Amino acid sequence: MAKGKKVTVIGTGNFGSTVAFILAMNGSCHRVMLRGRNYDVAKGKALDMSQAANAARQHTIVKAAKGPEDMVDSDVIVITAGAPRTPGMSRDDLLTKNAEIVKCYAREIREFAPDSIVIVVSNPLDVMTYVALKETGFPKERVLGMAGILDAARMAHFIFEKLEYGAGQIRATVMGGHGDTMVPLPKFTTVAGVPIEDLLDSEEIGEIVRKTRNGGAEIVNLLGSGSAYYAPAKSTTVMVEAILQDTNQIHSCAVMLDNDYGHSDIVSGVPVMIGAGGAEKVIPMTLKPLQQERFKNSIASVQEMVDKLYELNFFNDDKE
Ligand code: 2OP
Repeated sequence: MAKGKKVTVIGTGNFGSTVAFILAMNGSCHRVMLRGRNYDVAKGKALDMSQAANAARQHTIVKAAKGPEDMVDSDVIVITAGAPRTPGMSRDDLLTKNAEIVKCYAREIREFAPDSIVIVVSNPLDVMTYVALKETGFPKERVLGMAGILDAARMAHFIFEKLEYGAGQIRATVMGGHGDTMVPLPKFTTVAGVPIEDLLDSEEIGEIVRKTRNGGAEIVNLLGSGSAYYAPAKSTTVMVEAILQDTNQIHSCAVMLDNDYGHSDIVSGVPVMIGAGGAEKVIPMTLKPLQQERFKNSIASVQEMVDKLYELNFFNDDKE
C-alpha cells in the first residue's frame, strides 16, 4: 500500500472533481481519495485523473472511495458535498439541507479519520464549518472553512480589470462571512505594496467592493445551474497545500473565533496562519470602527443561521 500524504475529497461534482484534479496536477500529495454518491462515476473520474497525473509526470494516484472506511489515514479531508446555489438563491437558502449532509459526513470523519484536518466548502460556508466542528468534536484548529482566499481572488480580479495592470501582484483582503455581508477591506489591499487607495478613486473602489460581494452570484446566474468551481477549487488547494507543506503562511479562512476580534463561539473569516496543525493561529489586525461594525454585522448574519439550527434542535440528536 502506498504511503505518504493522503487527501480525501468528499463530493464528485464540478467543485470536488476540480479540487482533486488540481492536487493531482500539482503532485500535492501521494493519494487523493474521491468520495461520491455514485461509485462508478467516482471511479471513472479517479482513473481519468490518475492518467492525467502521469501525463503531468506527477506521482499522485487518485482513487474512488467505496465507503467511509476509505477515509482512514487521511491527512486532510475536503467536504464539498451539498446542494449548490441556483439562480436567485442566496448561499443561506441552503442552510438546513446542507447542514444535514455536512453533519452526516462529519460524524463519519470523526469515526474513520479522527486525526485529519477538515476543510469545509459547502454553503452557507461559515455555518457549515460550525456544523462540522460541532459534529466532529475536533479542536478548532482542525476545522477550517474556505472562503477568504476565494473572495480575495475575486477582489484582486476586479482590481486588475479596472487597472489593467498588476495581475498576480494584487494582495486583496476580505474578512467576515462568505455571504452577502462579507467585508472586503480596500485599506488592506495593495498592488506590489502600493495601496489601492493611491491607484483608484473611492467610486471605483466602491464598485470593486460591490462586485466582490456579488462575485459568486454573478457566476451562478451566468451558468444557470450550479455555482463557480475553478476559483473555489484553486482556493481550496491553496489551503490543502499550506497544511501538507506546513508553510505557516497567512490566508483568510473561516475558523471558530475564540475571543478573536471580540467574538467567540462563532465561525467567520479572519487572517489565519496555516501549518501542519491546521489553523494554528488567528492573526489579529487593527480594524477601524467602520470595519469593525461591518465585521460585527457579518458575524450577526452567521449567528442568525446558527441560532436557527439550535432552534431546530439540530445539534441535540443522538450522536451514536
Ligand atoms: C462561490 O462563492 C461556491 O460559494 C462559492 O462561488
